[in-house]
Amino acid sequence: MLPENDSDGYHLGFVHLALFKTIRTQYRRVVGDEKTIRAVVRDWGHGHIEIDWSPGYEGPFEWLGGASGSGVDDYVAALERRDGAEAARRRIVEGPAHALIFPNLFLGETNVAIVQPVSVEECVHWHTPIFLKGAPQFNSRLLRMSEAGMGPASFLMPDDLIVARRNQAGLQASLAEWIELSRGLNREYVDAEGRGVSHVTDETTNRALWRHYRQVMVEA
Ligand SMILES: [Fe+2]
Repeated sequence: MLPENDSDGYHLGFVHLALFKTIRTQYRRVVGDEKTIRAVVRDWGHGHIEIDWSPGYEGPFEWLGGASGSGVDDYVAALERRDGAEAARRRIVEGPAHALIFPNLFLGETNVAIVQPVSVEECVHWHTPIFLKGAPQFNSRLLRMSEAGMGPASFLMPDDLIVARRNQAGLQASLAEWIELSRGLNREYVDAEGRGVSHVTDETTNRALWRHYRQVMVEA
């Protein structure tokens, strides 16, 4: 359930609305009228799934709280020297990945998390912020961003965990035999690289995760 939550683009605009109304975050791009939201989800195959916010970004470092100043200028200059102007521009606009490496490694943009199963109904969501090698000027920002989003005293994960608790209770229901994961089936498509792609609010990621889970469990 937690890997699904980490890779779900539908719930953000509802479950985390209190946070988005309180502070400026990049996730405001996925709130509001569905037709105006440009982020996408992708099924990379083998259970690996991704949310790509970048089609909705309009400027550099939206994924880093809109960071600016001389420390940022130094970082951009160093990136350009290393990777060239075009690659550097792409990196600072698109930001790091928001992806699940099947089954339990979550690349959460500026955080990395591991889901460790403990029992059928219990798991631990370990997480840590990332720091950029050679760019210590971002360390405190990255740490503060992580504290704001991850962990039981943050402003993001507690919302998710309340919903997870209710989902877990719902799974005890004996009358509902199936959970339907059909959102976006009508507009999902396969791109030139063979990846399933759809609107960020679609259940493409959920379907991809469980399809592969079933495959590996049947083969086991
Ligand atoms: Fe969430």
